[in-house]
Amino acid sequence: MTVEKMRDYLYHLPEQFAESLKMEFDFVEDYRSAYENIVVSGLGGSAIGGDILRTFALQKASIPVVVNRDYNLPAFVGEKTLFYAVSYSGNTEETLSAYRQARERGAAIVCFSSGGELEKMARLDGKPVVKVPTGLVPRAATGYLFAPLVLLLEKLGIVAGARDELGECVLVLRDIRDSLHPEIEIEKNPAKKIARELKDSIPIIWGSSGISEVAALRWKAQINENAKSPAYYHVFPELNHNEIVGFEVPAELVSRLFVVILKDRFDHERVKRRMAISRDIIKQRVKGFVEVESRGESFLARLYSLCYTGDYASFYLALENGINPTPVALIDYLKAELA
Ligand code: PA5
Repeated sequence: MTVEKMRDYLYHLPEQFAESLKMEFDFVEDYRSAYENIVVSGLGGSAIGGDILRTFALQKASIPVVVNRDYNLPAFVGEKTLFYAVSYSGNTEETLSAYRQARERGAAIVCFSSGGELEKMARLDGKPVVKVPTGLVPRAATGYLFAPLVLLLEKLGIVAGARDELGECVLVLRDIRDSLHPEIEIEKNPAKKIARELKDSIPIIWGSSGISEVAALRWKAQINENAKSPAYYHVFPELNHNEIVGFEVPAELVSRLFVVILKDRFDHERVKRRMAISRDIIKQRVKGFVEVESRGESFLARLYSLCYTGDYASFYLALENGINPTPVALIDYLKAELA
């Protein structure tokens, strides 16, 4: 995938949600059951949709969603578990291992993948595979790797409102991209401005344990994979109980940090206060900081609005660094060494 393809993916993210809204799940009647929990197994770009599902379910579902990023499944997984195996390539060994364990324990399994071993195994086992289009990279398929997960839960009656929220995502993201896409010059393009500030910095992303926890993780991972830069994230209020103290070190150690604070108007009032105090503590010590506000009304639109700005900022940071955002050579190397 070239730089242009990554740029096109960014532009077309809202359409991934729009397309997913048309999906039918012809197996849904066979999956109606009184589940006690939902487990999503995936890694990296295939796991973030699980995290979004987990935070969405915290507000909307009466059973928990747990995201598993490991070879082994938690002990509670069994016949009352709805198990999602999510792997863009279908060849991620941790996810394949978790799939086999879920099968042994009699969980109800649904796979989300573009193909690979996962699809082969699932077809042999008679498990449904929700197909993700080929020709992308996992982090560029984030709409396809989240929307079907939540829409299926809605069809099963486990959550409500997902369809409407995804519809709002389409509108809000289309609106946001008008100010973020490459033709918009830096003075009017917040993502380009942030990328310029992040150049030669170590990005620290702060979210809150409400809506922006996952957005902060997404920013961090996108900066890692697109811009090939270290980046770290933490969330309020927890970071006020440890990380903040780290800013006391001699100035030369923190002077390359650039802090991005992700804000949402529904953050807890005390979190808003904590963000303001923390910003004042760090502002003379770090290279700089910026605050990014969510847009939209619904939970998913607000969350994705934060993610989308980070997607674009990480893309522009790659360009600032003279790097092709698409290849992830070290991930490929690790997978090859482990094969
Ligand atoms: O973005 C990436 O390429 C990675 O984070 C992958 O998503 C991760 O290695 C897992 O691979 P897959 O998504 O194919 O299961």
